[in-house]
Amino acid sequence: MASLRRSRRRPFSLQALLCVIFWAILDGFHQYVSHHRISTAATVRPRPLQSERIFITSIHWNNEAILRSHWNDAVIRLVQHWGPNNVFVSVYESGSWDDSKGALRELDFELDRLGVRRNITLSTTTHRDEITAVPSSEGWIDTPRGKTELRRIPYLARLRNLTLRPLEDLRRQGILFDKVLFLGDVVFTVDDVIDLLNTNDGEYAAACSLDFMRPPAFYDTFALRDSEGDAHLMQTWPYFRSARSRNALRSMSPVPVKSCWNGIVAMPAEPFLSSSPLRFRGIPDSLAQFHLEASECCLIHADNPLSRIHGVYLNPRVRVGYTGAAYAAVHPSWLSPQFMVLGIWKNRLRRWVSTTFFQDFVVNRRVALWKGRSQNRHEVGEFCLINEMQVLISNGWAHV
Ligand SMILES: *[C@@H]1O[C@H](CO)[C@@H](O)[C@H](O)[C@H]1NC(C)=O
Ligand SMILES: *[C@@H]1O[C@H](CO)[C@@H](O)[C@H](O)[C@H]1NC(C)=O
Repeated sequence: MASLRRSRRRPFSLQALLCVIFWAILDGFHQYVSHHRISTAATVRPRPLQSERIFITSIHWNNEAILRSHWNDAVIRLVQHWGPNNVFVSVYESGSWDDSKGALRELDFELDRLGVRRNITLSTTTHRDEITAVPSSEGWIDTPRGKTELRRIPYLARLRNLTLRPLEDLRRQGILFDKVLFLGDVVFTVDDVIDLLNTNDGEYAAACSLDFMRPPAFYDTFALRDSEGDAHLMQTWPYFRSARSRNALRSMSPVPVKSCWNGIVAMPAEPFLSSSPLRFRGIPDSLAQFHLEASECCLIHADNPLSRIHGVYLNPRVRVGYTGAAYAAVHPSWLSPQFMVLGIWKNRLRRWVSTTFFQDFVVNRRVALWKGRSQNRHEVGEFCLINEMQVLISNGWAHV
């Protein structure tokens, strides 16, 4: 009796297993075919109106290699394409110990030759100068190693804010811009920028590229939050926990996210010039003291009133790299059928077996404690928070 039952059950479970495998292969194949069809079909590239004026900004620290190999040339090509009268280039470099300054002086010289308006500031203030300064009222924190140290994020926010200063000066002169384009230290092309500006037919509060240092993993995880506000589930395709973000990615459509800052980013200029102008910031020191931190590049989306109206999008068609090799590895395509099938399954399994409950619990409890200590405490960028403390050190920055 027992042996009869067993022999009956075996073909059934084998059948079930085969069914699942067959479904998995078919599903993966279907995903790949539809992805491939979409990503190869849409090569039409509507040019944005030439009248669109862009304010180009970047901050640099020890970027000489990429500046000389790719970045400077890419900026020159971009301003030539757009026309010197339709751009402003705002660059802030500080404290590099390689020859970033020399490389940026060359860029300055070229831009001058082309008649491009710009502010290229090369500051001699080093990280050491910053951290040995007398702690001021803001941006410093008592760290577990018993020191009062300079927080990294408010420092970066300050530098990014400096690059936005000319926007206001220019407005006083009656010169206005449609978009602010934030360039990371990445390899990019004019077409990448055009595609980025055209994200979601030009309707967005922010549009980001996807950035790669060591493909196939994407790079900047600190500021990326999916449509539900969750951090990435995995660093390789299809990255996200939320179904909305994943579905858009699969069809190579603009991916709705709550925050992104991966490589190059475009935002309408208007919020930066409003009566209470949008600026980069860190979370309050009193909150950071609970061992929490948030990227200035995530908080900016939380603060931007346009985020709720127009949305923040990551454009998977625009892929940039921190090296020439990384850029080449993700063009023209960056996904093989095997990789997609594996990715879909890895993502599925991780969603089945993992939860954000414990991470959220830690963050939420600390925020609740912080709120409890004083009245009127509120952080709109709660979804940006992570369990970290970051400080500046003389040769970079550190987790403490
Ligand atoms: C950012 O810029 C604004 C305006 O320039 C300034 O008031 C604010 O203090 C800056 N924030 C940081 C963190 O430096
Ligand atoms: C260029 O930018 C820096 C940093 O914001 C500022 O201090 C300087 O005054 C600006 N220069 C000009 C000519 O606007």
